[in-house]
Amino acid sequence: MYKKIGIVTGGGDAPGLNAVIRAVVKTAVCEHGMQVIGVEDGFEGLLGDTCTRELSSREVRGLLPRGGTILGTRNCGRFSTRERVEDVYHEAIANLNKLGIEGLIVVGGEGTLGIAAGFDRLSFPVVGVPKTIDNDLACTELTFGFATALDIATEALDRLHTTAESHDRVMILEVMGRHTGWIALHSGIAGGADVILIPEIPFSMESVAEKILARERAGSPFSIIVVAEGAIEVGGAQIYQDSGRSNRAARLGGIGSYCRGRLEELTGKETRCVVLGHLQRGGRPNAFDRMLATNFGACAVRAIANGKRGVMVALQAADVVTVPISEAIANEKTVPPSGQLVQTARDTGISFGAPDEAKCHRNADVDPVISLQCEG
Ligand code: F6P
Repeated sequence: MYKKIGIVTGGGDAPGLNAVIRAVVKTAVCEHGMQVIGVEDGFEGLLGDTCTRELSSREVRGLLPRGGTILGTRNCGRFSTRERVEDVYHEAIANLNKLGIEGLIVVGGEGTLGIAAGFDRLSFPVVGVPKTIDNDLACTELTFGFATALDIATEALDRLHTTAESHDRVMILEVMGRHTGWIALHSGIAGGADVILIPEIPFSMESVAEKILARERAGSPFSIIVVAEGAIEVGGAQIYQDSGRSNRAARLGGIGSYCRGRLEELTGKETRCVVLGHLQRGGRPNAFDRMLATNFGACAVRAIANGKRGVMVALQAADVVTVPISEAIANEKTVPPSGQLVQTARDTGISFGAPDEAKCHRNADVDPVISLQCEG
């Protein structure tokens, strides 16, 4: 049984991180009699002079609804550099040994859990907790943070609806999600978007323009588009706002603005773009994320207390189970283009801008039978 464990939060922040910290401390300290050491600023806190502090149950009071992470986080740093990373691990493990930390709970997405897997390979015990607003981690049906990001994106779509309708405009909302379209798909359905553009279904600008014009012909002179930051035009490539550095990944962004210009040209309609950005990550977690983060945190402590290592807690069929971290980070979880939710979106009149949808839009307001056949 471990006497002292550490907790690290890494990568981009997500609503619910503090709820995990709280659950880990309460479970480890109160139920298992362990000491919990919080590592500050992601894994960077384990390097050099180290930056850590003991977390007692007093320290985690009032944390459940608080956004961000009291420990700080980093999505760049020495672990992300390609060179001499083995030395960085050895330095961190030597420091962990000095601090008397026998196991680590690592809360993060694919990048952070990739670093955690390195500790496991060097025989330092780790248990992962899946965090990301993008919901792109494999082996878990949901990550915490996603549900709150959806609420925020859906509220933005609701607000864009009223202004779009008042001005007879096309409003585009660019949302996060990295290389996957989970946030765009779910919020687009919840927020009643007319078009959803996601990386998993390359779109044609002509098809999107046709949908907008078909709506206009049918008496709806405004349209709402939600575009995932990683969405791709047929024959094109993802659009980046910067190309990154040696220790930080390139950042996606700009597809919404690109679509705005092209759609204005193709439809002649006034079009505006809103980039939701980090509003999706900031602030209070919703009730579901508080619950999920708490369950994940408590289950992670139980897993480490039961001697599990190299695993991540994961939600499967409404239960929290453990899966090998290596499996969770092997592949991104992407939206299945022929999955139920995409079909439901199509059945309820949402276009994905796929090239073969253009014909359906052209006929939609003329011949309801053709329109039905196309949608079916
Ligand atoms: O992975 C979370 C995420 O918010 C992505 O959706 C987005 O592409 C990225 O992080 C943004 O990173 P940064 O905080 O470095 O701008």
